[in-house]
Amino acid sequence: ALGADLAGRHVVISAGGTREPLDPVRFLGNHSSGKQGYALATTAAARGARVTLLSANAALPDPAGVDVVHVSTALELREAVLKAVPEADAVVMAAAVADFRPAEYVSGKIKKVDGVDPSPVALVRNPDILAEISAHRARPGQLVVGFAAETDDVLANGRAKLARKGCDLLVVNEVGGGKAFGRDTNAAVLLSTDGTEVEIPDGPKESLADTVWDAVAARLA
Ligand code: PMT
Repeated sequence: ALGADLAGRHVVISAGGTREPLDPVRFLGNHSSGKQGYALATTAAARGARVTLLSANAALPDPAGVDVVHVSTALELREAVLKAVPEADAVVMAAAVADFRPAEYVSGKIKKVDGVDPSPVALVRNPDILAEISAHRARPGQLVVGFAAETDDVLANGRAKLARKGCDLLVVNEVGGGKAFGRDTNAAVLLSTDGTEVEIPDGPKESLADTVWDAVAARLA
């Protein structure tokens, strides 16, 4: 069901990985390239949607015909998400968001001092953006889609995450061992609160994205 089945719809997508700075030159980050989120953006635009892409540190060109907002940290991403969601029919959180950030930002480059052991890095929790926008829908009937990046007990952890986060759909993908991050292909299981579980075989990230939009379009109709 392709064509322009998302015409008249506005979708908000997050992509990439947040960076949580320690000092002006260092950060805690992850391996997200942004490819899966950008594939969601280009496929949604091809299906007629108005697309807002919130991009965290993806080294990819802005897709044509898409509104792109560039952010870096989880707190910046949260601000951008909260600003964009009031107009969205659907929100897809494909970004890899850091659960923790350094408790302290050191304004000058942290120095290595001879004979002095490095101090441990204290971390604090970041807000859970997906749980927040799922619990407080910016519009009635708004659909919220999350991703789950899992290294073990993939399906069991995915099912538990769907319940915990409160979103409508959850794309569970296995990461680690060269899977998902940075590749052009991905495999997943699409879980829904209606109990359906759709297996998405390994294939281009655009195909996975189209399967997500099929599920979104069916639920918005
Ligand atoms: O960018 P690529 O190289 O193409 O790789 C794609 C991908 C592996 C990054 C992508 O497919 C993916 O799995 N994205 C989600 C990564 C992630 O953060 O998973 P998680 O299981 O830690 O988080 C679950 C969900 O909560 C995600 O929708 C995440 O965006 C969201 N979250 C997490 C933490 C947080 N503080 N706030 C959030 O909103």
